[in-house]
Amino acid sequence: MATVIDGKAVAAGVVEQVTAASAAFEVETGTKPGLAVVIVGNDPASHVYVSSKSRMAKQCGFKSVQHTLPEDTSQEDLEALIDRLNADPEIHGILVQLPLPDHLDSAPVIQSIRPEKDVDGLHVVNAGKLMTGDLEGGLISCTPAGAMLFVRNTHGSDLSGLNAVVIGRSNLFGKPMAALLLAANATVTTAHSRTKDLAGVCRNADILVAAVGRPQMVKADWVKPGATVIDVGINRIDAPERGEGKTRLVGDVAFDECAEVADVITPVPGGVGPMTIAMLMANTVIAATRSKGLKPPSF
Ligand code: GUN
Repeated sequence: MATVIDGKAVAAGVVEQVTAASAAFEVETGTKPGLAVVIVGNDPASHVYVSSKSRMAKQCGFKSVQHTLPEDTSQEDLEALIDRLNADPEIHGILVQLPLPDHLDSAPVIQSIRPEKDVDGLHVVNAGKLMTGDLEGGLISCTPAGAMLFVRNTHGSDLSGLNAVVIGRSNLFGKPMAALLLAANATVTTAHSRTKDLAGVCRNADILVAAVGRPQMVKADWVKPGATVIDVGINRIDAPERGEGKTRLVGDVAFDECAEVADVITPVPGGVGPMTIAMLMANTVIAATRSKGLKPPSF
């Protein structure tokens, strides 16, 4: 049976480090790190995520501001809010919760955030810094940064000689994850829905990262014996065994069978999930310290 990574415990360690860095920042500058979270519309899942982000920001000792805008907000009004937050010296990090309602175009909104305040790491300047191997100068997308912390805790910071396979090629996760693994010297394959013999490609992976959004797609015979398996999927499936109409959360990996083959594996829930918010807090304190010309903490 594989070692199961406790994402909540690792995330709690990051939050503890952030809280200490936030307190030190306040002593040194007389201000708190400031995080603004913007949500548009009524998507219930997004509201749950945003509430936990705002709550965690307060717990870390930040100035935490939440802007809840109505479903019919115009593109101009949303971009005007971003302009105000960009200019606000007390706000060091800005996050616009995605997805936005259909009538809004998210790309110009995200690209209008000042890169130094883009704690989601989605601005092309931050994506470009990551792609060119400048890991110190920009801000790195939170979920891949969290997944990478697990990889580093397991294998150290030099992945020379290891094969890594990332299933999924999104801008939010797959691409930045592949870039982080490559920057750590892994030999990286980005696989996706058009990949031929996906199972065979995955069987070659010492580090297998799944982010496809297909419940329990990765089976035991896709996993190389002794591999590290990181599951980024969060899928809600029917769970009739829990009673009529009940559901449960599962990842992209068939956990029980893959845990028999892997050396290290992350669970869902309780694996990568808790890391995303923790790394958002980390990015905010990094952005705040940089804004004052101070040395940012590293995570
Ligand atoms: N919606 C789901 N995940 C994320 C995320 O990491 N950042 C933002 N902004 N929205 C999301």
